[in-house]
Amino acid sequence: MSSDLTDRIRTIPDFPKPGIQFRDITTLLADGDGLRDLTARLADIARPLDPDLIVGIEARGFILGAILAQMLGKGFVPVRKKGKLPGKTVGIDYVLEYGTDRLEIHEGQVPQGSRVILIDDLIATGGTAIAAAQLLREQGAVLLMALFAIDLPDLGGMAALAAEGVAARAIMA
Ligand code: PRP
Ligand code: ADE
Repeated sequence: MSSDLTDRIRTIPDFPKPGIQFRDITTLLADGDGLRDLTARLADIARPLDPDLIVGIEARGFILGAILAQMLGKGFVPVRKKGKLPGKTVGIDYVLEYGTDRLEIHEGQVPQGSRVILIDDLIATGGTAIAAAQLLREQGAVLLMALFAIDLPDLGGMAALAAEGVAARAIMA
């Protein structure tokens, strides 16, 4: 794994709740070399799959996903938390490491049969990514893979995604 990139991420204890070791990527994003290297590695994985769309999960998946989409010359579609998208939405409820929430996309923005890569900054329990994957599949998308900057392997998210039949890669663990 990439120690250079890992060194640029900091861990904040007890955020947003006691007991959570929060992996903060803002220090990596603020570092030009780190941001370039991380996004280049994401693009190296995504490019050969030739996706039609990059779908990013709120909030930090927007940052990496929009850069990745631009690098590949593809469109970007946001998966947002409940009530944020202005148009007609389709959504799904899900469970977090520290709470529950609902994910939504704009209806029709992921066309049936579109080949999609899902991206987020981090996978922990996998609840968010699995919910997003289910939502995309319900829209008739072909989910090529889920891509993450960071995996927290002790929380089992990658295995949970695999059990759902979703191919997944993370740059750092
Ligand atoms: C974080 C992270 C992922 C999710 C991973 O987002 O960016 O989206 O948690 O957790 P999971 O694998 O256990 O589902 P968060 O829910 O903190 O939302 P935010 O990015 O909007 O702050
Ligand atoms: N999302 C869920 N768990 C997280 C963690 N430990 N750090 C950052 N984001 C998270």
